[in-house]
Amino acid sequence: MYVRDVIHKDIPRVDLLATYQEIAQVMIGREADTVFVENEDRKVLGVVRGYDLRRAAADGRDIGGMSAQELMMDMDRMPPVNPNLDLVDVIRLFRNMHSGQLPVVERGEVLGVVTHSNVLDALSQPGVADRLKDSWERKAASVINALSEGLVVMDRDHVIREFNPAAERLTGRSRTERIGQKAEVVSLDDSPAFRVLTTGEALYDVESKLKDGRTWRVNYVPLVEDGEVTGVIQTFRDITEDKRIEEELAKTRDELNEAFALTLPNSKVERKLKTTPEYRDNFDPTTGLITITEVISDGGYRHVVNALKVLADLNRKGIMHLMGMEKDILVQAVIFHDLGKAQPDLEVGQCVNPREAFEPGMAHAERSADFAANFYQKHPDVVTLIRYHHHPEDALGDCPRHLLPMLRVLKLADGLSASITRRSGNITLEVREHSVFVREQNNHPDHCRVYGINLLTGRQTVFERLPLSARAGSTSGWPGGPGGPGAPSGTPGDLTVRTQGPLSRVAD
Ligand SMILES: [Fe+2]
Ligand SMILES: [Fe+2]
Repeated sequence: MYVRDVIHKDIPRVDLLATYQEIAQVMIGREADTVFVENEDRKVLGVVRGYDLRRAAADGRDIGGMSAQELMMDMDRMPPVNPNLDLVDVIRLFRNMHSGQLPVVERGEVLGVVTHSNVLDALSQPGVADRLKDSWERKAASVINALSEGLVVMDRDHVIREFNPAAERLTGRSRTERIGQKAEVVSLDDSPAFRVLTTGEALYDVESKLKDGRTWRVNYVPLVEDGEVTGVIQTFRDITEDKRIEEELAKTRDELNEAFALTLPNSKVERKLKTTPEYRDNFDPTTGLITITEVISDGGYRHVVNALKVLADLNRKGIMHLMGMEKDILVQAVIFHDLGKAQPDLEVGQCVNPREAFEPGMAHAERSADFAANFYQKHPDVVTLIRYHHHPEDALGDCPRHLLPMLRVLKLADGLSASITRRSGNITLEVREHSVFVREQNNHPDHCRVYGINLLTGRQTVFERLPLSARAGSTSGWPGGPGGPGAPSGTPGDLTVRTQGPLSRVAD
């Protein structure tokens, strides 16, 4: 039964200036606990409840001198009772509102009032309780039938008591065939349902491999009545296709890594990179110390692969069309840039000062440049880029000017690779004229920001600081907002570089 079945349209009203006495007279005359306060256009603005009058008197306020406007509660503080609300739900509102009468409102208009006594009268009519129970059961059944997930309820004797249409579709068995029958195990392993019956503890997101080759994700929730486990509710969906896509993505990622590996010049370079460890860590901003959380034995190799991916993304965005950019030079510089790196031997859990534990970047930059020049006869520009890849912007005086834009790209790819691999960073890139815009978020406070770098001048501008470790990909952080004056053209959300693979620490 609904509010519309018991609504009273003739509501007791007073105007805004009505006195306490006038309000009380209306309450007594209409046997009402609540009167409605309306303005000169007969629009109801609020209600005065008997509770409000008693409350004001108890507080010692001079209610004799107060108007309805001063005593009333505004309509927007009243609970939303609409004509289609179930009467069972209204009972709770009477108690919460200290009132036996509540206004019924639809689209901002007061239609009438619903009273506590009318609701109780309606609900106590013979047969109503049974009808309500039937109605709730019908609602529950329609929800269960509409679920896209399979739902099976098994009692403590392992007999199936409920089997919804999605379960019929997923199992290929009919409801009539299964209800009343013993449950069957369809997975390769024993079903956790039996364990849940014993322990009474729910299990969620259990991946279950089926005998027919499919994979389901299943929730097992105990059915508890009067404190006793009387059955198990199982909901499940087929994730075979999701798993297939996941595996394909992993395969594509591996193939991509292999393709990048093909750019490596020989097995000696590959071996050096694959045996140079890198470290994943947690940074403590108060002490400046890092705690090693993971050792990646082939971290040097992963760092180069990720830097090449960043370079490939910048290439897709047109950076190689800019004056001063030579793709082959940059690729070679990325491959050889850390070849001379000498890493310390650290263990998981070790807490160190990174400035003391790691060799200064300029030392391995010199060494790498020498290797590239003398063992691999690399182009002089490649060697120079490698030599300067750890020099700060204000110490590049000796670096040939024509290489500066490429050096800035190399340093950017190097740093972003470190962010991605070492700190699970999410990076979004955009190229606009001679500037690269970067949105970077990871677990280090210095690397959570939106910034731009002009490749010709080296000028860096930070537009916004971002919270730690939040997911990147939102477009809101672009300077001026998406489409704003500073925003790159295109859709930044499409440009996220999500480089995969184990994470490595890179002293970039
Ligand atoms: Fe380096
Ligand atoms: Fe590096």
